[in-house]
Amino acid sequence: MTNTRELILAIESSCDETSVAIIADGSQILTNIVASQINSHKRFGGVVPEVASRHHVEQITLCIEDALQEAKVTPAELTAVAVTYGPGLVGSLLIGISAAKAFAWAHQLPLIPVNHMAGHIYAARLVKPLEFPLMALLVSGGHTELVYMSEDGSFEIIGETRDDAAGEAYDKVGRVLGLTYPSGKEIDQLAHLGEDTYHFPRAMMKEDNFDFSFSGLKSSFINLVHNAEQREEVLIKENLAASFQASVIEVLVEKTIRACQTYPVKQLIMAGGVAANIGLKTAMEVAISKRLPEIELIVPPIRLCGDNAAMIGAAAHVELKLGHLSSYELNANPSLVFQTM
Ligand code: KG4
Ligand code: ZN
Repeated sequence: MTNTRELILAIESSCDETSVAIIADGSQILTNIVASQINSHKRFGGVVPEVASRHHVEQITLCIEDALQEAKVTPAELTAVAVTYGPGLVGSLLIGISAAKAFAWAHQLPLIPVNHMAGHIYAARLVKPLEFPLMALLVSGGHTELVYMSEDGSFEIIGETRDDAAGEAYDKVGRVLGLTYPSGKEIDQLAHLGEDTYHFPRAMMKEDNFDFSFSGLKSSFINLVHNAEQREEVLIKENLAASFQASVIEVLVEKTIRACQTYPVKQLIMAGGVAANIGLKTAMEVAISKRLPEIELIVPPIRLCGDNAAMIGAAAHVELKLGHLSSYELNANPSLVFQTM
């Protein structure tokens, strides 16, 4: 291995995955270790912050060692260390940040702070080079946003959810259906076996903005299920999943297409855990090819849609180019919002 390559060791610990990656030249994944804690949280129906922190403490050093070993890289060969500093759970973030600081100090490496949501967008850079201006639809457990990027490091939120995030709605509805947390993937699978027979509302479709709302859909769903239970009516799970998913997808696709018609974009990136949804991906592909064939759609592979450190390394490459480094004073920012890099 030569020192001419830029090698970034990236750490992600904002929620319930401890992940360490090594990225070469901002786009090549040498390793992307992801230690998921999901089995520990399932029985609680959501992520328990204290449990998450404990797992991160146990995993972080092992993940760093595994990453270096798997990539066959020594600390001396690294260019920098990158870490997610927000948004996320404060205790979880602090563990990644402390590990990154200690590693950077021990090996005299620059420290790059990365916004988790910028990481989700830059996951696309691991698939192909980005062309600006571009639009990103960010759909995760905590966020649903349309982000316009005129250039690297510039983020303008042009629309966002007024209440629940799309992933949050999936998880809450999944709970009502008796599915395990997180339930996005299972609802997606059930939806493919059913039909949209319950016709849930399509919130904010007619409004002339790029915002979303999913709490009304969630309430309609819960009311329908509870009323049916009281009347001892049997509902068809597959059709419930298909009807819920059809409503989410139609709104996400329609508003995204409108945003891409309004802004002069060359590419559309779908990012975040919900971008792993097969129904959403297919519907977006069809809509783009029919209505905006000149725009290139990039959806990272499933392993890069969920939380992982490779995407943090890809975003860190841009931060490094822009000269954005941090001192050892770096703190977690649980409610970090987009700032232009
Ligand atoms: O980005 P992510 O891994 O973590 C956050 O930063 O939030 O997203 C997790 C969310 C969960 O709500 C999960 O249910 C949802 O992504 N999700 C999906 C699918 N896979 C994961 N939602 C819909 N369809 C999927 N296939
Ligand atoms: Zn995430």
